Amino acid sequence: MRQPLVAGNWKMNGSARSIELLLDGIKGSLASVGRAEVAVCPPYVYIPMVAELLQDTEVALGSQNLSQHQSGAYTGEIAASMLLDFGCRYAIVGHSERRTLYGEDDALVAAKYAAARAAGLRPILCVGEILEEREQGVTEDVVARQLDAVIELEGIEALADGVIAYEPVWAIGTGKTASPQQAQDVHAFIRQRIASRSGAVAEQVRILYGGSVKAANAADLFAMPDIDGGLIGGASLDAGEFIAICQAAP
Ligand code: 13P
Repeated sequence: MRQPLVAGNWKMNGSARSIELLLDGIKGSLASVGRAEVAVCPPYVYIPMVAELLQDTEVALGSQNLSQHQSGAYTGEIAASMLLDFGCRYAIVGHSERRTLYGEDDALVAAKYAAARAAGLRPILCVGEILEEREQGVTEDVVARQLDAVIELEGIEALADGVIAYEPVWAIGTGKTASPQQAQDVHAFIRQRIASRSGAVAEQVRILYGGSVKAANAADLFAMPDIDGGLIGGASLDAGEFIAICQAAP
């Protein structure tokens, strides 16, 4: 049985004060969360502070990005080993905002996936189509291409300890959620594609849904057989909403 994972991607939001309040709220209600593993992905600079505030909890810590390099002359970049130093377990790679706003292509995303794994972090690989691609009926082609870039570089076994997040770009921050069936269809496609290379890895890999998940729609999404939790943006900045989403994971 895959343990559900609900991860909050805070993006570039928050302040020391607001993060303290948010974590107080989350910690105060953690006991009410059932089986789900809970994770938060703060902006880099807050990671040490969040690590300390989460010290006595089971909440996992992740980054929103990382460098594909191990160390060296890469001004402004953060290496996987540094994230590990401050207690990160996860690293998001290939978020659509990184792909579209910062020009990250499939090869770079795969290199970041490899860098995370090499250091002992669990990458959360984001995949997903833009609206035009969905309308053209090429969603599966896009997701397959994004997935295959990692499989070709790292091998199928590399997905076993990672996490995949299907985030249709048209559903991110728009309030437009994919219907549970639309999401399930793509999740099933991803799992089948992995299963064609390794049934064991396909059974093990967790596939999260992301894109306007809220307390009100989480339970219906998480009830689908191939949806193993969520990657939550806006709603993860509100402790009550976020906890309610975590509670919705079966
Ligand atoms: P929203 O939940 O704000 O739509 O963001 C989803 C997302 O991008 C999570 O990584």
